[in-house]
Amino acid sequence: MNVTRAFKTPGGVIKAVDGVSLALGQSEAICLVGESGCGKTTTGRMLAGLLRPTSGQLLFESKDVWTTKGKELARFRRSVQLVHQDPYASLNPIRTVYQTLSAPLFRHKKVSDRRGAIGAVTELLQRVGLTPPADFLIKYPHQLSGGQRQRVSIARALSVDPRVIVADEAVSMVDVSIRISLLNLLLALRDEFRVTIVLITHDLAVARYFARRGRIGVMYLGRVVELGTSELVVGDPAHPYSAALVAAIPEADPSLTRSKERVELRSAEVPSLLRLPSGCTFHPRCPLFEEGLCDVRVPELLGIPDGREVACHVAVRERAPAAELIGVR
Ligand SMILES: Nc1ncnc2c1ncn2[C@@H]1O[C@H](COP(=O)(O)OP(=O)(O)OP(=O)(O)O)[C@@H](O)[C@H]1O
Ligand code: SF4
Ligand SMILES: [Mg+2]
Repeated sequence: MNVTRAFKTPGGVIKAVDGVSLALGQSEAICLVGESGCGKTTTGRMLAGLLRPTSGQLLFESKDVWTTKGKELARFRRSVQLVHQDPYASLNPIRTVYQTLSAPLFRHKKVSDRRGAIGAVTELLQRVGLTPPADFLIKYPHQLSGGQRQRVSIARALSVDPRVIVADEAVSMVDVSIRISLLNLLLALRDEFRVTIVLITHDLAVARYFARRGRIGVMYLGRVVELGTSELVVGDPAHPYSAALVAAIPEADPSLTRSKERVELRSAEVPSLLRLPSGCTFHPRCPLFEEGLCDVRVPELLGIPDGREVACHVAVRERAPAAELIGVR
């Protein structure tokens, strides 16, 4: 997809997402990471076809989703599932786990009777680690812990054989130990069902864990500023904003924290989308800011020789001699 989404707000029109371009492969683990308000949820909702881009296209099997209808649209809807941050809000409180999980199975004609549905729901519960399944079938959301509710949400997403699951802050509301087991579950499902998982998080430590064999897209004020393998983006960040996020990850080992390069931002304040800075929107905060360049020209997201894409004049100049720029858009 390559999309932009604007919203009318009382203060004026803002671009919550501005030209975000993303191509998903099969069975990928990809993370979108960035501070609150940078457009992660808006991007995720557009990816899931729940929010129409103001401009740009969302392509599924080479077709623009927003122009497809009928069976084709239904197939897309089934193929991309969203798991929300707060399963309490997304699960119906007066439905049992069985009712919640069997409804999509009946709707998509994957089962035709109660017996088949119980069998299929039991299998799903087992797969997401809610065992013994019989104990969970008749439970209501309020009888489950936060982690268990999130497993039910994941099972519901999985029930329709999706090709992509967009998990928006899906592990943010649970304790750290449960967070890791949920991330491991998502990674195991990715391997088993060859489903692509897009994890949205504000926490780069979560992104680093989840996407250790995948990609990370760092977002800032509605744009992707760096996109590449986790190894590159976390191990050797090219964009000064990514570097600042990496430097801020708390390490369990204090000696590791001490040895990390500190990145001092020029300002802690995130500009308003209503009054975006000129040129590179990160320039008022950037330690590498160059007057006459960064405040004048908008940096494009460019491919550099190590395989990642980065939107920073200085990073591109240092890491890619002009002749080697790849994929100039
Ligand atoms: N329906 C809407 N109407 C007006 N503004 C919106 C709407 N949805 C999102 N926004 C604005 O768009 C910007 C991006 O919001 P979004 O929810 O995508 O950010 P986010 O990165 O998911 O943030 P968070 O980490 O807090 O969840 C914010 O400034 C938000 O206020
Ligand atoms: S373009 Fe300039 S201001 Fe923007 S991130 Fe790069 S060095 Fe910093
Ligand atoms: Mg969000």
